[in-house]
Amino acid sequence: MELRLVDLVKDFSGTKAIDTGSFSISDGKLTGLLGPSGCGKSTLLYLISGLLKPTSGRIFFGDRDVTELPPEKRGIGLVFQNYALYPHMTVAQNIAFPLVNRKENRELIQQKTQQMAKLVQVEELLSRKPGQLSGGQQQRVAIARALIKEPDILLLDEPLSNLDARLRLEMREEIRRIQLETGVTTIFVTHDQEEAMSITDEIVLMKKGIIQQQCAPIDMYLQPVNRFVASFMGNPPIDFFHFPIKDGRLILSESYALPIRTTASGTVLTGIRPEAWEPGSGIRVTIETLEQRGRDVLAGFTLTGAKGKALLSITDRVRTGDTVELSLKRKDLLYLFNEANETRIDAEVAYES
Ligand SMILES: Nc1ncnc2c1ncn2[C@@H]1O[C@H](COP(=O)(O)OP(=O)(O)OP(=O)(O)O)[C@@H](O)[C@H]1O
Ligand SMILES: [Mg+2]
Repeated sequence: MELRLVDLVKDFSGTKAIDTGSFSISDGKLTGLLGPSGCGKSTLLYLISGLLKPTSGRIFFGDRDVTELPPEKRGIGLVFQNYALYPHMTVAQNIAFPLVNRKENRELIQQKTQQMAKLVQVEELLSRKPGQLSGGQQQRVAIARALIKEPDILLLDEPLSNLDARLRLEMREEIRRIQLETGVTTIFVTHDQEEAMSITDEIVLMKKGIIQQQCAPIDMYLQPVNRFVASFMGNPPIDFFHFPIKDGRLILSESYALPIRTTASGTVLTGIRPEAWEPGSGIRVTIETLEQRGRDVLAGFTLTGAKGKALLSITDRVRTGDTVELSLKRKDLLYLFNEANETRIDAEVAYES
């Protein structure tokens, strides 16, 4: 079901925790709600679920205005970080609970419980209590319990943050599989950009209650609208320098200038992603730090007084203290920003022949 938020505002004692304006969440898609701690992700989810009332604005599920409806009348499924399973009930009773509560008939309950247990793959665990389950298994049960009511919208608030790194990876794929299998419109809250990048159809990136950008994950990485988005997306993070533009060229150093088409002029705030660099005739830098990252190394250097990083291959064999030359292999990972308001300026770095 499509979700529409219109002029949404939520005040907490005079400060706007949410000021998102109007936007929609696509029907049948997995949308990631992403942003740093305290930016308002949970608050937005609570507004959508009805656990909180907006200070102003309306919320629509399809054509239905749900702004005044209590949570139980909205047709949502909610899963929180801490699962909140009932400890004294078995897995089967936990999953069945919403239907028992609704006084559905016994046969239907049993059939749907089986179906949900199969979907989230806990069929073998139905008679256990939550205390006898791993974190990942508990999270599966919590998702089954949220889905058994066949909600129009599934809301997941940092559902993986209690899991260890390995299980997080596994469970995020599981959430994607379950979402694709059921086709349920899902909002997945996370502060982990990589998690959002890896499983969502679309990302809504927030900062201080305001939406910065909403688009497909890859577009957010490749086409950030401002400095904040460019910094938040990508790991290792983007670096910023100040380079002059002269005669249609961006001057990275005395020996390295790139032809550029842009309206910007003078000295410009420039972002370059570490994966854009490769060894080759370009800027001359001294490697100050080296960080091993699997098959890559992250080499730190200083350029025009600012710290930069280059993600190089282990086979490039650079060492700390080496002086090396780096050129840009990915010119689409260089961005110019307006110094004052930090929005991105249109620029096209031409490839040198
Ligand atoms: N009940 C409340 N009363 C007052 N302020 C609140 C209340 N709930 C949240 N806030 C404030 O609103 C802002 C957004 O909080 P919220 O919990 O939505 O952030 P979040 O993005 O979910 O953060 P996290 O990633 O840490 O969970 C924060 O500044 C928070 O302190
Ligand atoms: Mg939160």
